[in-house]
Amino acid sequence: MKALIFNPELTIGDVPEPEPGPSQALVQVQAVALNFGELAYRPEGLGPDHVSGWDAAGIVVRAAADGTGPLEGTRVATFGWSGAWAERRVVDVGDLAVVPDHVDLGAAAALPVAGTTALQAVRRLGPIRGRRVLVTGASGGVGRFAVQLAARAGAHVIASVGSPERGAGLAAAGAAEIVLGPERLRDRVYGVLDNVGGSQLAEAFLRLEDDGVVQAIGKASREPTVIDFELARVRSARGRIENFNISVPLGDDLDHLVSLLAAGKLDPQIGWRGPWDRATEAARALLNRRVAGKAVIDLPSSNSSNAGGEDGPVGS
Ligand SMILES: NC(=O)c1ccc[n+]([C@@H]2O[C@H](COP(=O)([O-])OP(=O)(O)OC[C@H]3O[C@@H](n4cnc5c(N)ncnc54)[C@H](OP(=O)(O)O)[C@@H]3O)[C@@H](O)[C@H]2O)c1
Repeated sequence: MKALIFNPELTIGDVPEPEPGPSQALVQVQAVALNFGELAYRPEGLGPDHVSGWDAAGIVVRAAADGTGPLEGTRVATFGWSGAWAERRVVDVGDLAVVPDHVDLGAAAALPVAGTTALQAVRRLGPIRGRRVLVTGASGGVGRFAVQLAARAGAHVIASVGSPERGAGLAAAGAAEIVLGPERLRDRVYGVLDNVGGSQLAEAFLRLEDDGVVQAIGKASREPTVIDFELARVRSARGRIENFNISVPLGDDLDHLVSLLAAGKLDPQIGWRGPWDRATEAARALLNRRVAGKAVIDLPSSNSSNAGGEDGPVGS
């Protein structure tokens, strides 16, 4: 079958068919979404046949042999730590969600890692109704879901972005305020969902309320974080930082996100969409902060290539 392989760019090549385990379904992939982490932090030493990719949506072509999970013909959004960027992928039945007929599979493909991360991180903040929550890297994939989900949970959401242009669409997504970096915050915040790390995490930490908490989600800045705790004491910062890590299996959370999407209560925020022979262009745009939200790639079998987003870079 065909797959996107690194050599060193993302090109279409031939790889062996995946073989499902007993509790895995085989899915004909129609759309995949790219994530910063799988591109920027790709492990070394993977073989030439290795198929990367976490997020895909498509149609079950072989149900799990143990009788669990959806039947052949079911539309699904899927997650796994590899194998998404191919015509067919295998998926654990605990890491998928059924997608209703009226929902675009490209939109569903945008949900697994970014959407579930945002959902789980918002949940870890605890009750946030009426509380101030800062989202750093709010222009990105996780950030745009985090803004929407924190706003739905009743928070006063402050979206931190790199430039005014990167903030486009975030007010409509639920941000009450948009700031250019945590250092521009005027008042303290109860919660932080930090996707950037480095100096942005350090600055956000200084601006926590006494019982406040940072969920340290990511390091899109690629900068290590240096925190001056003495400065924090001088500034009376008493909050805490939790190192967030996505919890799997994520099928139940993905199911919730698909239901929000299906009800029109969650916007997949697709900032780039196109065919898979343009995957390198999509990856470059994502890594260079030119995608507003998710980059979604349609496979040739898809007949929905223009639904739900523009074909080409948006916000570049
Ligand atoms: N812990 C977990 O389980 C988990 C799960 C998912 C993702 N993550 C991590 O969370 C982070 C965000 O993921 P994502 O998928 O939302 O990424 P993304 O779509 O690329 O968004 C990252 C955002 O960070 C901002 N940013 C600031 N400095 C940057 C820099 N030097 N390079 C790139 N971006 C920079 C950008 O916003 P501006 O251009 O507006 O500044 C960008 O929109 C990544 O580090 C990812 O690895 C962690």
